[in-house]
Amino acid sequence: MKKRDVIIACDFASAEQTLAFLDRFEEEKPFVKIGMELFYAAGAPIVREIKRRGHKIFLDLKLHDIPNTVKKAMAVLSNLDVDMCNVHAAGTVEMMRYAIEGLTRADGTRPLLIAVTQLTSTSEERMQKELLIDATINDCIVKYAQNTKEAGLDGVVCSPLEARMVKDACGEEFLTITPGVRFADGEKADQVRVTTPARAREIGSDYIVVGRPITAADDPVAAYRRCVAEFVGEE
Ligand code: C5P
Repeated sequence: MKKRDVIIACDFASAEQTLAFLDRFEEEKPFVKIGMELFYAAGAPIVREIKRRGHKIFLDLKLHDIPNTVKKAMAVLSNLDVDMCNVHAAGTVEMMRYAIEGLTRADGTRPLLIAVTQLTSTSEERMQKELLIDATINDCIVKYAQNTKEAGLDGVVCSPLEARMVKDACGEEFLTITPGVRFADGEKADQVRVTTPARAREIGSDYIVVGRPITAADDPVAAYRRCVAEFVGEE
């Protein structure tokens, strides 16, 4: 799989809305992220249909359960032929190892597997007071990223502002998938710590996950192309 790509977060409530959105792309087949909302509403059929249309799929379900359950669930997702899926690193190195086992197909291939370290919605204060994690949030993110690498996964989801720290700790080959991307002249909406596609590229993100700057644009195809031009550059 080629590194550095723009993944469109298809945060739509139904299959109809999602397919109507993807119909607008006549020339390119963007990499698509399907999250919990769409998957719980439309299930495996929407995954199969988007795949049938030729898109790569990041199935963002953030599994976190006992190792055996995660392994079995991952085997089901692997059969859906998605290209990337994820777990919470908080599930432990053992859970992540089981996840890889479940994901690996009989022929040895598997989708990319990445982990969530600490959600960007979790503040350092809440992590320390409620989760009783006695570390700085950056130390926690680095440790969880190292655990992810130790378990054999491919990378982590993180804020673009954390991507450099993760690469320094885990190596340049360890993938960083970063949401929180906005055009320099665009709306931030509810995202707080944002960065532009060009800056995400400089920092070393491998994939940017972009939702509303593309899905809510007057011309989503033009917005997608602008994102690709800024992040991937000319190929
Ligand atoms: O619309 P927007 O570009 O903010 O969408 C970003 C996408 O990335 C959403 O699907 C959101 O759930 C996801 N995401 C995020 N921050 C994280 C993890 C995932 O914004 N830390």
